Amino acid sequence: MRKITVIGAGNVGATCANMIAQKDLCREVVLLDIKEGVAEGKALDIWQTSSINHFNTRVTGVTNDYLKTKGSGIIVITSGMPRKPGMSRDDLIKMNASIVINAVEKVIRYSPEAIIIVVTNPLDVMTYAAYKTARKDSRKVFGMAGILDTGRYKAFIADALHVSPKDIHSMLLGGHGDAMVPLPRYTSISGIPVTELLNKEEIDKIVERTRKGGGELVNLMGTSAWYAPGAAAAQMVETIVDDQHRIFPVSALLKGEYGMKDVYIGVPVVLGAGGIEEIIELKLNKEEMKLLQNSANEVKATMNLLDEMDLIAD
Ligand code: LAC
Repeated sequence: MRKITVIGAGNVGATCANMIAQKDLCREVVLLDIKEGVAEGKALDIWQTSSINHFNTRVTGVTNDYLKTKGSGIIVITSGMPRKPGMSRDDLIKMNASIVINAVEKVIRYSPEAIIIVVTNPLDVMTYAAYKTARKDSRKVFGMAGILDTGRYKAFIADALHVSPKDIHSMLLGGHGDAMVPLPRYTSISGIPVTELLNKEEIDKIVERTRKGGGELVNLMGTSAWYAPGAAAAQMVETIVDDQHRIFPVSALLKGEYGMKDVYIGVPVVLGAGGIEEIIELKLNKEEMKLLQNSANEVKATMNLLDEMDLIAD
């Protein structure tokens, strides 16, 4: 791929750009921010690791200069305010919706064909804002949350079992919020169902810690996480660039799948060069379906809030 753009040179955006460069996924990564000099500085810093980390991807930083993003194949939107202690992801909606809408309006003018990956919180509703603004096929506008959330879930399971996180496979559904739905029934360690290795109480604890995983880090650091979110977004980019058709949980627009419509929510998808190649419908039991429905209701309520704000031009 020739060019990939990352909008927002905060901790998540810069980490994502760094990972994309290290994986040598394209000829150039453009990092864009509104704060004078920040993207230029971070891009230069990353570029100066190229000989150390052995990559060729040119890393360019720009202040608000969308022309430099022209011809991008993928755009990752990370701009917005991070969560502060005590804030829910939904508190961010007012602040971040206008930032995301503005960025998408500008960036798609120069890269109308690009796939858009949204990382800004509250994730599912910001993905919806990007979709409405971009007026693109929903298979090309989706959100990163599930890889981050399953990343946390797998790290906690690896700790509990003293095994390699590489051997853990899992799936997770729902919005990127405290109502997300980790699925122990779809979790295995080298093929062994997690339910054979941990008891219900241990699994419940891990599920609960995963749901609040973002908040745990906000409380520790006074701001939200960036290494895992940045790496997770870069993994989505890699899958698309190499047309890998890997299956990940991604925030996608449902059009009847899981009996739901017009809601962005985390579901398993096949990711490839075309973006979302397929949404996979799991055969959920009643309890799992109820949890997913609850999570979708929460997301839908914030989507309605956004619609009421009337921020997106018709
Ligand atoms: C988190 C924030 C970035 O989950 O949503 O860490």
